[in-house]
Amino acid sequence: MFVSLEGIDGSGKSTQARLLADALRAEGRSVTLTREPGGSPGAEDIRRLVLEGATDRWSPETEILLFTAARRDHLERTIRPALVRGEVVITDRFADSTRIFQGITRGDLSDTVDRLHALMIGVEPDLTILIDIDPRLGLERATARAGRELRFEDMGLAFQAKARAGFLALAAGKPRFFVIDGHGAVKDIAASVLRAVKAVLG
Ligand code: ADP
Ligand code: TYD
Repeated sequence: MFVSLEGIDGSGKSTQARLLADALRAEGRSVTLTREPGGSPGAEDIRRLVLEGATDRWSPETEILLFTAARRDHLERTIRPALVRGEVVITDRFADSTRIFQGITRGDLSDTVDRLHALMIGVEPDLTILIDIDPRLGLERATARAGRELRFEDMGLAFQAKARAGFLALAAGKPRFFVIDGHGAVKDIAASVLRAVKAVLG
């Protein structure tokens, strides 16, 4: 089973991905917990290029190529082998992030994103958990974390608000999505996430 977590920066994806992996492992399941951009050595190298530095370091078009290159490597070296071994794969972000951040938020490039996805990636998760949160709170949480990976946070509140609306519109009517309110307590959100995953896992 292939599960992705999506949402704007600071929505709680990494926290929930970790708790979900812990809960499934406690039941004796084999789990690969991974993330994007990154999740394989080559893709982690690309991560540094896209998440650090000035906001205008890359054009949206160049970003699509970099994120897709990272995803292809992640798929070849981490995701597919784990699925072949019969594991549950949990990824903190996948292709929906490119659809939103490069396809919609930074410009009108959805068609380019979709064509490149079909050509180079071609798979979707079985289940996508979208954690929905007020962008102001998300940005507060995200910028409170120490670190250098602030290129997208530096794009500002309006950028995150546009991304939030984009994610909700993308999820609407698609059975693969499960939308969770991210404003609650960590443990309550974790319980909802686990219920959603188990409904699909059986
Ligand atoms: P993301 O991966 O979506 O950016 P994180 O899981 O890294 O989000 O969470 C961002 C910050 O917010 C972290 O410091 C985390 O401890 C905190 N956080 C996560 N979920 C919650 C929650 N439900 N309530 C309060 N704080 C949270
Ligand atoms: P991430 O490490 O998940 O950051 P956060 O924990 O703050 O949510 O992702 C870093 C940034 O990369 C995030 O702002 C969204 C951006 N991103 C894209 O723009 N396109 C993509 O395809 C992916 C995977 C991430």
